[in-house]
Amino acid sequence: MSWVETIRDVNLANLCVKSFKYEEEIRNRVKQTPLVIFKRQELTNKQLLHFVSVLGTPWDNNTFSGNLQTSLKYEIENDSIEIVSHDGILKNRDVPWHLDLTHYPTQNIPNRLLYAFEDINKTPTIFFNSSLALKKRPDIIENLKYRYVYHKATYNTPWNWPIKRPCIQKHPYHDYWSLLINKSFCVEKDWFTRKWFDEFIEDIWDDDLEYVHTYEKGDLVVYDNLSLLHRRPTFKDGPRRLKRVTWEPYWY
Ligand SMILES: [Fe+2]
Repeated sequence: MSWVETIRDVNLANLCVKSFKYEEEIRNRVKQTPLVIFKRQELTNKQLLHFVSVLGTPWDNNTFSGNLQTSLKYEIENDSIEIVSHDGILKNRDVPWHLDLTHYPTQNIPNRLLYAFEDINKTPTIFFNSSLALKKRPDIIENLKYRYVYHKATYNTPWNWPIKRPCIQKHPYHDYWSLLINKSFCVEKDWFTRKWFDEFIEDIWDDDLEYVHTYEKGDLVVYDNLSLLHRRPTFKDGPRRLKRVTWEPYWY
């Protein structure tokens, strides 16, 4: 699948070593490819954050940064590293198609990464390339270009108001449109309903737009949170804890 890249031959711990020559290549791969999976990584928190520093700036836990606002119920392992778990804010339930943090009152939607630092259960994260879907359907771009919906989390956040966002927006560093409208955070109002969204996804669906990722220990999954929607089915068995970093690319 052209928009997913699996990299097996790089040890990201070496990024901290001066003689490591692939920093720029890694940065470019992540910039160009919406979903990059680095296999078999064994990283300390310091090494994980060093990797993020190659790509951009991580959100931290300071008063005016995002993590403090969004991880009220998550364990903060480090200023910029959250442990997201099966018994966290969303429990075991399925989480429908969404982009992370569209309910958050910032202009830019940040990117994220997930790191399977220990053995976890087989519940996958499923990605859908909405940008590629829109590329194939200029009629939908025309239809949604000037329409707005309101976004709000279904759980408590420190702010109470819905955030108004366009349904689609031009990607900040690619020459294509991305979908912002989603099923988890958009508030049902007027023409927008969850039923409408389900039918919409059905309409734009193509098998080459979906990628199902089942984690193995050591997987580090870096995703372009704007190009892709993602979802998670109901947990079947066993615990699942992942390290997560929220970050804004240098190239924004
Ligand atoms: Fe998510």
